[in-house]
Amino acid sequence: MSLKKVPFFEYSRLWLDDKKEFLSIIDNVSSKGAFIMQDAVKDFELELSNYAGSKYSVGVGNATDGMEIFLEAIGINSGDEIIISSHTMLATASAIKFSGGIPIPVDIGEDGLINIDAIESAISKNTVGIMPTQLNGRICNMSAILAIAKKNRLFIVEDAAQALGARYKGQHAGTFGIASAISFFPAKVLGCLGDAGGVIVNDKDMYHKIYQIHDHGRDIDGLVKRWGRNSRLDNIQAAILSYKLKSYSDVISRRRELAQRYQDQLGSLEELKLPPQPSIVSDNFDVYQNYELQADRRDDLQSFLSKKNIGTLIQWGGTAVHQFTTLGFKQKLPNTERFFEHCIMLPMNVFISNNDVDYICESIIQFYRR
Ligand SMILES: Cc1ncc(COP(=O)(O)O)c(C=O)c1O
Repeated sequence: MSLKKVPFFEYSRLWLDDKKEFLSIIDNVSSKGAFIMQDAVKDFELELSNYAGSKYSVGVGNATDGMEIFLEAIGINSGDEIIISSHTMLATASAIKFSGGIPIPVDIGEDGLINIDAIESAISKNTVGIMPTQLNGRICNMSAILAIAKKNRLFIVEDAAQALGARYKGQHAGTFGIASAISFFPAKVLGCLGDAGGVIVNDKDMYHKIYQIHDHGRDIDGLVKRWGRNSRLDNIQAAILSYKLKSYSDVISRRRELAQRYQDQLGSLEELKLPPQPSIVSDNFDVYQNYELQADRRDDLQSFLSKKNIGTLIQWGGTAVHQFTTLGFKQKLPNTERFFEHCIMLPMNVFISNNDVDYICESIIQFYRR
């Protein structure tokens, strides 16, 4: 009997499951010749801010560009330090680097999110801001981070690439600071058919600055107001995102259901530390961009699951930001280093079935009980 197969993420399903609708969307946009900066982008920007609870949003080429653009809009001087989590994509750090600042990665807590005490210890006379990453679809302790920022007169911006729809004390990811960036990379909870991103912002002046920078310095009236670049969201991607946003709440519910199913079956294994479960009442409403857990004998578990045709992934290829020593990072961050020896992500997306989750859980239990 051949083994069941559960890929980590089946990219082709993104296209195949909605092919008919996508073809009609592509035909509609293309027949009008409305490829760049037309109604589909404006419509999606409006829908995105309505959904995310922000006043404005700007469609951009990807979330990395989005972060770089809002940092440029804020105005970072050479030598300015911005504190980030060590458990984030290198993109968070590179956006700061390219905006002229210095990324300062700090340690994480047990949950993999930025550690509050570590933020306080990292503040220096050069610190200007904090850019927490709302990792795996879960928002950090923003009450504490906002309090630190206020006390030390620092700005907050968010890497919300993984967190559209997540809430903390009822407030949406991306709305806690000056601006934030969301990624629509295909494997994201709201994923499109290529690279795309969005910036969320509340302040009108800041919105205009971001808008100008993303389109060659031109404002909505078409007049050049400053130096800018090109990082625009394509109309076809925007139209696809509008279509997908309509069923986004269902997607989040399904991911939360899957997280609970993992929890119910794996919760009693002492060899694992699972992410917080959705059914627990807390300040957080998580969207489970990833289901990242910590596992004893992680590498052996990963090869065992691979032999069972179950795809898993170690985030960022297993390298935390401060471990990119070739880029000049020198810190030692013990919690992160420990976390990265154990972390692994199980399949978490709407393409997997309950049976798939059961098969994954049975296989993991088999691994530890052999
Ligand atoms: C936490 C985080 N930050 C930034 C990015 C970069 O997003 P993009 O690929 O849209 O530039 C990602 C995407 O994987 C991410 O997960």
